Amino acid sequence: MQALTQTLTLVGLEAHLIRVEIESRRGIAIFDVVGLPEATVRESRVRVRAALGQLGIPLSSHCLTVNLAPADLRKVGAGFDVAIAIGVLAAIGHLRVDQDELSQTVFLGELSLTGAIRGIRGVLPLLAGAKARGVRRAIVPRANGAEAAAVAAGGTMEVFVADALEGVIEHLDRKQTLDLATMPIEGPRPTEDGIDLADVRGQPTARRALEIAAAGGHDLLMIGPPGAGKTMLARRLPTLLPPLRDEEALEVTALHSIAGALPPHHGLLRRRPFRAPHHTVSDAGLLGGGDPPRPGELSLAHGGVLFLDELPEFRRCALEGLRQPLEDGFVTIARARSRATFPARPMLLGAMNPCPCGFAGSSRPCHCSPERVRTYRARVSGPIVDRIDMHVALPPVELDALTADRGVANESSAVVRERVARARDAQHDRRTRGRATAAINARLGPADVSGVARPDARGLSLLRDAMEKLGLSARAYEKVLRVARTIADLDGADGVETRHVAEAIQYRLLDRRLSEAA
Ligand SMILES: Nc1ncnc2c1ncn2[C@@H]1O[C@H](COP(=O)(O)OP(=O)(O)OP(=O)(O)O)[C@@H](O)[C@H]1O
Ligand SMILES: [Mg+2]
Repeated sequence: MQALTQTLTLVGLEAHLIRVEIESRRGIAIFDVVGLPEATVRESRVRVRAALGQLGIPLSSHCLTVNLAPADLRKVGAGFDVAIAIGVLAAIGHLRVDQDELSQTVFLGELSLTGAIRGIRGVLPLLAGAKARGVRRAIVPRANGAEAAAVAAGGTMEVFVADALEGVIEHLDRKQTLDLATMPIEGPRPTEDGIDLADVRGQPTARRALEIAAAGGHDLLMIGPPGAGKTMLARRLPTLLPPLRDEEALEVTALHSIAGALPPHHGLLRRRPFRAPHHTVSDAGLLGGGDPPRPGELSLAHGGVLFLDELPEFRRCALEGLRQPLEDGFVTIARARSRATFPARPMLLGAMNPCPCGFAGSSRPCHCSPERVRTYRARVSGPIVDRIDMHVALPPVELDALTADRGVANESSAVVRERVARARDAQHDRRTRGRATAAINARLGPADVSGVARPDARGLSLLRDAMEKLGLSARAYEKVLRVARTIADLDGADGVETRHVAEAIQYRLLDRRLSEAA
């Protein structure tokens, strides 16, 4: 007898439908899997045989051939197990189920030897692909139920969750219905993990820079002595950011799902990601890699923040590797047998000391030779510094600020977040009304900059002077205007005024110091 079931596989973020064709004949026990299966898929035979054995269904008198089509697509992973097991049951006549019904359903999930169904990676993008192809039903592991529900929500596809193969069989036999995938309760609000901008004392310039960066999605580099609060400030950036918009949330959750980085029983990610890879991270860990290719930290930070603490400690080639993807907004990983493209558009947040000992330019004596300082700064200047929109120097925290009562002069994340949200709404509104092509100032193209970020006449001449005096590059010119646009948005101003430009220039004062080192 023959049977046909369906499952899905991913190439990058793109889902492909896989037909599982099973032929069964009476005869000696053979179980072949063909159609370009990798080792994990071939091993499926062992798991399926054991799981069916547990249910009292021996395969010892069946000669089985499983064909995974299309044959030219490489099949990797254990996610085909359930589709193969159900196909085998139908082919050996153990499961009486309408073939039409089977062809309307996709099965996802890995089997354990006892028949339990284990969660797999990538369920969200897999189901999104199924839905786009008009598939009407899916059965997925319960562990992936929350992300599956995010795809099913309000749509035309029914998604059921299963704990074990037995439940799937009973469902198809109409003896018992599986549970529908349901959305979990919303995750905690950004400030509920106990960190808040109000914890940071003093550092008004850096706090302001963080607010501007959050409002316009700008990249920011913080430079300052040890213990000034750089890491502390950076970790509070997510508390200032608005939640992901719907279409962003789907994409971000899909990336985390593929990487296996989705918290268990978690539906759509609403909080913007914050990724802080250690400086010893491998190239593959940072940019993505593996076979099949998986997203790296850069793509896991998409839509959120990539924080590179102790920036000069990162290997130079790792930073070089970031440059192109950050410019393009995506990263392509090519392997001998596969190739994948993942979105990669985070805000870049960097922190570093001004010199190896950390005290250059502060009130404490610095013991580094000019040569050491130059080498240290040169590690970041070429690849990264020029493309970062804003630089800010942090002085050591003043004693008065440190000893002041908490909350006296400090605004909380909630207050700042509200201003950021208003500024972001203004940017979104400009795009909706066709005045700009990007919904975030950091992504404004050259035409947008000369349209919506053109300053008044005094602002323009101020900027000209600054370019000459500070030796700013043409790239920096546009960056200053984008930042000035964000400052105007925070100010609720329609046009970019002189004072907005003047403030934006403040965040380029370190250009010459940093580039002299290169
Ligand atoms: N501005 C500040 N307000 C309140 N506490 C601070 C501030 N700056 C530093 N601290 C305290 O010092 C600790 C270290 O600060 P943090 O790690 O942010 O410094 P850093 O600038 O990143 O230093 P390094 O250059 O050594 O990485 C913080 O955990 C906090 O307890
Ligand atoms: Mg630090």
